[in-house]
Amino acid sequence: MLLTTTINGRKKEILIKDDDYLLDVLRKEGYLSVKRGCDTGACGLCTVLLNGSPTLSCSTLAARAQGKQISTIEHFPVEAKKFASFMTSEGAEQCGFCSPGFTLTVIAMIKELQNPTDDEIMHYLNGNLCRCSGYVSQLRAIRNFMEEIKNENC
Ligand code: FES
Repeated sequence: MLLTTTINGRKKEILIKDDDYLLDVLRKEGYLSVKRGCDTGACGLCTVLLNGSPTLSCSTLAARAQGKQISTIEHFPVEAKKFASFMTSEGAEQCGFCSPGFTLTVIAMIKELQNPTDDEIMHYLNGNLCRCSGYVSQLRAIRNFMEEIKNENC
């Protein structure tokens, strides 16, 4: 089938098989920031935004992206760079394998939740695993990032 979709703001037409997974299609198309981890929907490494919502591309048929907007981390260079600097400041740097999916989930959360509690943040992010740093330092980085975004929007 012909998948007509928008990836990072660009209209795309891609020939796919009915049972192709979005992760495989995106990586074949050169979006290598979308990582393969567990391949079973458990780690969050393969997260992309589908119409703005975090979506596990390893568990989503590519056909479900028909007519929708897909965003990978390349769609948010400014936010990604800024968030990475807050992660570094808090000693929460990641090896880079989980950070694209993790950062996309943080970006989606900030758009979706107004003034979330720490528990709400942790709940939103509980599908994105990271073995490199502590979740407490990540939480501090997320809080600082959210504060910065809030100040920019004032
Ligand atoms: Fe998709 Fe782990 S690779 S959730």
